Amino acid sequence: MTQKIAVLPGDGIGPEIIEQAVRVLTALGESFEIDQAPVGGAAYEAAGHPLPPETLALAQASDAVLFGAVGDWKYDSLERRLRPEQAILGLRQSLKLFANLRPAILYPELANASSLKPEIVSGLDIMIIRELTGDIYFGQPRGVRTSPDGPFAGEREGFDTMRYAESEIRRIARVGFETARKRSRKLCSVDKANVLETFQFWKDIVTEVGKEYPDVELTHMYVDNAAMQLARAPKQFDVIVTGNMFGDILSDLAAMLTGSIGMLPSAALNDGGQGLYEPSHGSAPDIAGKDIANPLATILSAAMMLRYSLNKPAQADRIEAAVKKVLSQGLRTADIFETGTTKIGTAAMGDAVLKA
Ligand code: NAI
Ligand code: MG
Repeated sequence: MTQKIAVLPGDGIGPEIIEQAVRVLTALGESFEIDQAPVGGAAYEAAGHPLPPETLALAQASDAVLFGAVGDWKYDSLERRLRPEQAILGLRQSLKLFANLRPAILYPELANASSLKPEIVSGLDIMIIRELTGDIYFGQPRGVRTSPDGPFAGEREGFDTMRYAESEIRRIARVGFETARKRSRKLCSVDKANVLETFQFWKDIVTEVGKEYPDVELTHMYVDNAAMQLARAPKQFDVIVTGNMFGDILSDLAAMLTGSIGMLPSAALNDGGQGLYEPSHGSAPDIAGKDIANPLATILSAAMMLRYSLNKPAQADRIEAAVKKVLSQGLRTADIFETGTTKIGTAAMGDAVLKA
């Protein structure tokens, strides 16, 4: 059966970087059906909504979605439901994308791009798996109320609810163990079990699921220590699995260890293996249309798509090897340029990857 890829370029640099990723995908010679649709501000301009029904239907009917980026300051005054960023939330919800995979990879050639010492980060290759649909970000009830009891009774208070259902923990834990199996068979579950009931429960369930994976070495770490360890000695980790809030924070921290936001892909997966793949960065309106954006995060997102949704790991390897080759040839977009390397534009970087 032909595999269907929905391509949603979006705003800002989205169309430029997506164009290069589609060229690379096409060059693989597979019989993919690739269809494009507008999303974000571009879709608001064209159809009055950031996630028009036609775009959503195309995404739902696809095996995988390749997403550029959405957003621009010029939409800041729109009511919330019409803002570009709502498209990504709508896609996550309707495709039930609960597992966010964010690799933090630092190619040896870019070791100087990090703010950390090269010996701490050179060759870094870790995967952070963040649960994406539960936790305190979505738990009910929430709001602002008059405090019903305790030392601040009668005063106004803001409150949220942290909660994880057993099935939610089990399914993200499985993604963690399965991913670890494809890598070095080491999984670190990050929690705050010493303080939070929700995360003592998380730890217990992850430990239980771990019994199904005797070949994977499971460790547990408190989130505060994990933050410290990520900055101190990040190469001790291979795969990290954690909740929505801790994962939000730790994955941004890990991204910055590599110092180059233009290099980092990401994936969001559902139960059926369908996924949405996008660069970790935003739409970068400040550099849009200038042929200077780095397309490698998007090209590497396409590689993740081949590995995690389209079951073509050898093609993913080809793309990743091509990116490594281009870097070792000294070719750089402006964001990763340093003295002694050759500065090239977005399209030329696409050319170089195709050639490699
Ligand atoms: P951003 O990631 O778009 O840009 C941050 C900085 O990194 C800018 O200086 C930009 O020029 C640079 N940059 C980003 N990607 C780059 C690339 N591929 N090559 C070279 N340089 C790159 O984040 P910012 O500025 O906070 O947000 C801009 C817009 O993007 C906002 O509207 C925001 O809401 C949206 N956004 C969208 C996301 C998405 O579509 N998933 C995620 C994050 C932000
Ligand atoms: Mg974040």
